[in-house]
Amino acid sequence: MTDLNIDNFDGKPYDPEKVFDLSCSSDYENWRHNKLNALPEDVEALKVEIENPYSLQVEEIMGIKDRCAVLGLVIYQLRDSSQQDKTLVHQIGRQLGLVSLDGNLRADEDSVSSLQVRPQQGNQYIPYTNKPLSWHTDGYYNTADRQIHTIIMHCVSAAAEGGVNQLLDHEMLYIYMRDENPAWIEALMHPQAMTIPSNIEDGVEIRSASTGPVFSVDKTTGSLHMRYSARKRNIEWRDDLLTHQAVKRINEWLADETITIQHRLNAGQGIICNNILHNRSGFEDSDTQQRLMYRARYYDRIAGTGLLQQV
Ligand SMILES: [Fe+2]
Repeated sequence: MTDLNIDNFDGKPYDPEKVFDLSCSSDYENWRHNKLNALPEDVEALKVEIENPYSLQVEEIMGIKDRCAVLGLVIYQLRDSSQQDKTLVHQIGRQLGLVSLDGNLRADEDSVSSLQVRPQQGNQYIPYTNKPLSWHTDGYYNTADRQIHTIIMHCVSAAAEGGVNQLLDHEMLYIYMRDENPAWIEALMHPQAMTIPSNIEDGVEIRSASTGPVFSVDKTTGSLHMRYSARKRNIEWRDDLLTHQAVKRINEWLADETITIQHRLNAGQGIICNNILHNRSGFEDSDTQQRLMYRARYYDRIAGTGLLQQV
């Protein structure tokens, strides 16, 4: 496990309730300073090895929480990847204080989705195909009270080829944007910034339209949340110049591979993240190797990692 510069995260004092308030620049500047100072130079610092997912050791839990608090994500590696029962996802989540699972339309009965290529009735959902998935945060179409704050994605088996994830901590995107033009942040915090039309399957509405901000601050944890999809279709942006400029600029940042993380999960590895921005390249399965991921999505944020919760 490579060390983070975690002590730097507490360097300059700030009021956690004012960090994302555009009228309080000194609190933002100090939080920004601490965050940038704590970033590791080596992506290896993202990784934590797990001995037993059913009984995490204290230093493993701290390793996961520190990385999620500072970097927005952690990549874990099971020391023994021969045992990959689906229950390990629930159990890792529970030990991090994650209990409120989102049961989406295609999730299994235990609310953990088995992401793999499979035939689908009705609307075709790209996560269950081998096509590329464009940049998004999960559950951007959910209602305000069902926003996703944490994702666990565990790789049981990688594809024969492809299936690479790109990731970008939305707090970093916020920093880029606020530094360049705070008016874009204001536009994206507007309660009508982004609308997802209702989902209709066979003439029946199975999910109603969802309107809300792109950036918001979670009341419980004080942390920044982001709803986003880079899809061109089925997203209605508020008809306002600053909103359109901001979306265009976000897509430019997302296309910049010097600021995103690229990682292909191998069997026995997983990502735990604060629902940061991510995409997935297309992939090919073979007769002997098919991609299978277990994915759980939670309304909770990992305990002790919110801006108002850090000790
Ligand atoms: Fe996703």
